[in-house]
Amino acid sequence: MTKKSTNTLWHHATITRADREALHKHKSVIIWFTGLSGSGKSTLAHAVEEYLHKVGISTIVLDGDNVRHGLCGDLDFSDSDRIENIRRVSELAKLMIEAGVITLAAFISPFKADRDDARKRVPHGDFLEIYCQCPIETCEQRDVKGLYKKARAGKIPFFTGIGSPYETPGMPELVVNTHELTLEESVKKVLNLLMQRGVIKDIVC
Ligand code: ADX
Repeated sequence: MTKKSTNTLWHHATITRADREALHKHKSVIIWFTGLSGSGKSTLAHAVEEYLHKVGISTIVLDGDNVRHGLCGDLDFSDSDRIENIRRVSELAKLMIEAGVITLAAFISPFKADRDDARKRVPHGDFLEIYCQCPIETCEQRDVKGLYKKARAGKIPFFTGIGSPYETPGMPELVVNTHELTLEESVKKVLNLLMQRGVIKDIVC
């Protein structure tokens, strides 16, 4: 992004992220779910959120389909607009962790460079990348939204995995094989990661 805003000065907050985390009684972190459309990112993010919410943790889910109704509604699925989509939502996720909220971001985020940029925006350790691994054949069989069918029929030209690439994460914090595990098992894997990283103390389920 070329910064066009000039003559702006950073105003330092008197209440800090640490103050907000102390109020919420837990650390904040970005949990970034990446994977093909239909790989289970949103389902998993929402199921993890449900658990966290029940145990009194402040959360928000940023979901690709939803964010594209508002904040990113002006963007299409060209490479350049996907890059801008991830830039905007990673800046939003950064603001959310400043607010002391555990932020679950579910975006295809097909390009490695964009995911790496998102990671670099926040302090080391505050970005947990979770790869929802699922063969495209399975995503296509599920075809929850009927989009693979449309893409195969040539009605969606740049569909991820068909007319547009997906770059597999090299070193994500966690890989969840959503085609092999139950939703409960997948949730537990994420919760275990949060426990290992000291974000939550223990798992009660
Ligand atoms: S991303 O590539 O920019 O990260 P994002 O996660 O925001 O994508 O949005 C993906 C969702 O948009 C998909 O789950 C699907 O419902 C919808 N969609 C519509 N067109 C496309 C397309 N060409 N490729 C992928 N997803 C699409």
